[in-house]
Amino acid sequence: MSTQAHPLETRVVSRRFDQADAYTLQGYLASDGFKALDKAFAMQPEAIIEEVKKSGLRGRGGAGFPTGMKWSFVPKQSPREKYVLCNADESEPGTCKDRLILEYDPFSIIEGMLIAGLAIGARRGYIYIRGEYRYLLDRMEKALEEARAAGYVGKNIRGRGFDFDIYAHTGAGAYECGEESALMESLEGKRGIPRLKPPFPAVSGYLGGPTVINNVETLASVPHILLHGGEWFAAFGPPKNGGTRLFCLSGHVNQQGVWELPLGFPLRRLIEELGGGMRNGAKLKAVVPGGSSTPLLPADVAWNVNLDFDSMAKVGTFLGSGGVVVLDETTCMVKFALRIMQFYRHESCGWCVPCREGTNWLQTSLTRFHNGGGREADIALMQEVSQNILGHTFCALGDAAAMPTISILQHWRQEFVDHLAGKPCPFGAKTAVAVGAH
Ligand SMILES: Cc1cc2nc3c(=O)[nH]c(=O)nc-3n(C[C@H](O)[C@H](O)[C@H](O)COP(=O)(O)O)c2cc1C
Ligand code: SF4
Repeated sequence: MSTQAHPLETRVVSRRFDQADAYTLQGYLASDGFKALDKAFAMQPEAIIEEVKKSGLRGRGGAGFPTGMKWSFVPKQSPREKYVLCNADESEPGTCKDRLILEYDPFSIIEGMLIAGLAIGARRGYIYIRGEYRYLLDRMEKALEEARAAGYVGKNIRGRGFDFDIYAHTGAGAYECGEESALMESLEGKRGIPRLKPPFPAVSGYLGGPTVINNVETLASVPHILLHGGEWFAAFGPPKNGGTRLFCLSGHVNQQGVWELPLGFPLRRLIEELGGGMRNGAKLKAVVPGGSSTPLLPADVAWNVNLDFDSMAKVGTFLGSGGVVVLDETTCMVKFALRIMQFYRHESCGWCVPCREGTNWLQTSLTRFHNGGGREADIALMQEVSQNILGHTFCALGDAAAMPTISILQHWRQEFVDHLAGKPCPFGAKTAVAVGAH
């Protein structure tokens, strides 16, 4: 993947992506590395949190929760040890941004975690890297070794009396392990299934201690915020949608890639100007705006929406993980719904009935529909099953499976009807889809 800057980009988190040696301590130090940490040492913990609040930074992992507020929920006094966790599980289909930070700018994650540690009073942090990214573990561990040897990680950091150690850990490659409480279970050496909330991690997280868990991009944004000020970062985006964001563009465009843009950037310009327009000059049909769990947008809505949290909420979807997937007019939406459901059925941990049975049932129905064996009544039934998953599951994986399905049934119902007449798929799929395939 090219890491060269595009003229339309605003590079903050990605500013070191095309600096060949930024993954070494020397390269990092040569480009303002650890200057924000020095600044943080001169601040009270509350002032660090205030600066992050001012920046308007909202979590880049999917839910978009305000980061400064999350940090402020950690109790100041605690009989238990506190922790900072970096969620590098990056499992949301359509999303491939965190791996660039892990690869090209690992020290920014370390620095972000140290600052978070100072802010909440933690002495230990873990980076949980998805199993499929094991090839990046070496790079992260080398960065940690270098940082430790130079006194940036470990005991008495920079002679400031602050102890903070960081360990990298890989998962086995399960989507569910990106869910924060399942990640903690996994990190504790147990099966990666979610915990009942509350209590939330800020109060009782890893090993029962107060824990801040943030996405890679969220933590990597923090040093830039401290160095230049919260207001500086906030000014890149519209009100309440502070800063810039890495957007991953894939699907039916001429140029796929990851670019950093100010929040509020028009989705249309991302597709046309950075993505080089639609592949083969085809017409846009739909956009997955923020990873496979977000409700899809039909073309007319997608052409007119901006890439920020509030604009997306107004049109009934989410900015999610920043994974934008573009679908052109040749896409069979029944097959697309099926493909998404295969993923969620496979990744459901099976803990609760609506998710376990619902995803299985939807996958079977969508397969039958796509292969030409659907019945008209199944359309309403699929809608009902999806609604029965939504909001009724132990963790948000159930919602993630239901939401795109509901939006596809709402906006592209006619394609399901067309499948009843044209047996099998009227889009001319060459092969039928086997039940249970993934
Ligand atoms: C099923 C599921 C999978 C998730 N996967 C990820 C992931 O891969 N990476 C991530 O940062 N957050 C993921 N999340 C969100 C995390 O639970 C959590 O909200 C996030 O790590 C908080 O960090 P942030 O506030 O910086 O976004 C997932 C959530 C769910 C429900
Ligand atoms: S919603 Fe799905 S993934 Fe989440 S706990 Fe229930 S069965 Fe497991």
